[in-house]
Amino acid sequence: MNNQEIKLSLPNGFLLGAASSAHQVEGNNKNSDWWMYEEMGKLPKSGKACDHYNRFEEDFALAKQIGLNAMRISIEWSRIEPAEGKWSVSELEHYKKVLRKLKDLGMTRMVTLHHFTLPRWLADRGGMATREGAAAFGRFAWFLAQNLKSEVDLWVTINEPEIYAGMGYRFGIWPPFKKSLPGFLKVIGNLIRAHKAAYRAIKEVNPDAKVGVAKNSVYMEPYRNKWTDKQAVKIANFFANHYFFEKIRKQLDFIGLNYYFYERLRLDLKSGFQRVKPSEEEARSDMGWRTHPEGIYYLLRALRKYNKPVYVTENGIANASDDMRKRFIAEHLYWAKKAIDFGVDVRGYFYWSLTDTYEWHDGFGPKFGLVEVDFETQERRVRESARVFKEITVNF
Ligand code: FCB
Repeated sequence: MNNQEIKLSLPNGFLLGAASSAHQVEGNNKNSDWWMYEEMGKLPKSGKACDHYNRFEEDFALAKQIGLNAMRISIEWSRIEPAEGKWSVSELEHYKKVLRKLKDLGMTRMVTLHHFTLPRWLADRGGMATREGAAAFGRFAWFLAQNLKSEVDLWVTINEPEIYAGMGYRFGIWPPFKKSLPGFLKVIGNLIRAHKAAYRAIKEVNPDAKVGVAKNSVYMEPYRNKWTDKQAVKIANFFANHYFFEKIRKQLDFIGLNYYFYERLRLDLKSGFQRVKPSEEEARSDMGWRTHPEGIYYLLRALRKYNKPVYVTENGIANASDDMRKRFIAEHLYWAKKAIDFGVDVRGYFYWSLTDTYEWHDGFGPKFGLVEVDFETQERRVRESARVFKEITVNF
């Protein structure tokens, strides 16, 4: 795809935005479980991160300047409820200011309630490994729905439930560093409960609210044209891409799709179930993640059966040299448009991320931002690739 081909017409009202999460950009999230483990030396320190807590106005102004008309942010639970049942009025006021700033800029506001971190008090009691965790999340959602009713356009309850449960409870890479399959499954069950509790709470306060989930999805293909490989894809595809949605189908006003991963699967007696490693020629990000824009089309098509509006809630590339990002975005949008033409009700695309961020256990290494951040000086510089959003027409 060359530059001339970038001209796409997207439906009127289509959201072109960027996504972020509180812990990754705000800085000083001292009451969260992540911060505690960072202090213990088990994770890279997030410190001031992008100091977005103090610089949100500057950051949103840049988003607007780039040509974005929406932002997906998250609200840090551990700021709002630093101790059980103690709600922080000053932090609530802070988020009101943040959300009003977006409104003043004419931007649509998508807000995530759980993006990987937990208040420390809840983590100490077993977090999402317990049913109480799910119930506490419902109360948090209720509190926000009451207090931010007119400040949120789209609510996302949970970000990437399977990644959260997998990294924390199955692979032991994120808090609470557990490695147990039954533990993982239990957390998935509680995240389903947590979503439902939050959905009910928000709708009770405001029946017109739009509430969804942002789910990580993997585009999978069989490695060979063989029955076994195809079966492997069928089964893995169900569990990775559909199980969670099936469980919450009745409590879902829209679907959020986070797309980063493409896999080829093989299954045979000799080597068992395998994810075939990318070959040298395949396009890959700085993190080694293989890029495959066409995959978004097939994933979106498969969501048509739910008959709900869909947002691409995350899609992005770690690319410090910025030589791949523009094309990456344009191609994903091109395939998203194809899905719209096919009949999927895709209403928006959020690039991950507006700025470079604290990338969890990878610290400040990966550079996803449309805006480069110098973490010493906190200076921002818009990357060349960000122009792509001005070159796209949002109109028929
Ligand atoms: C997603 C996360 C997000 C960010 C990107 C790169 O899995 O939701 O916070 O780290 O990956």
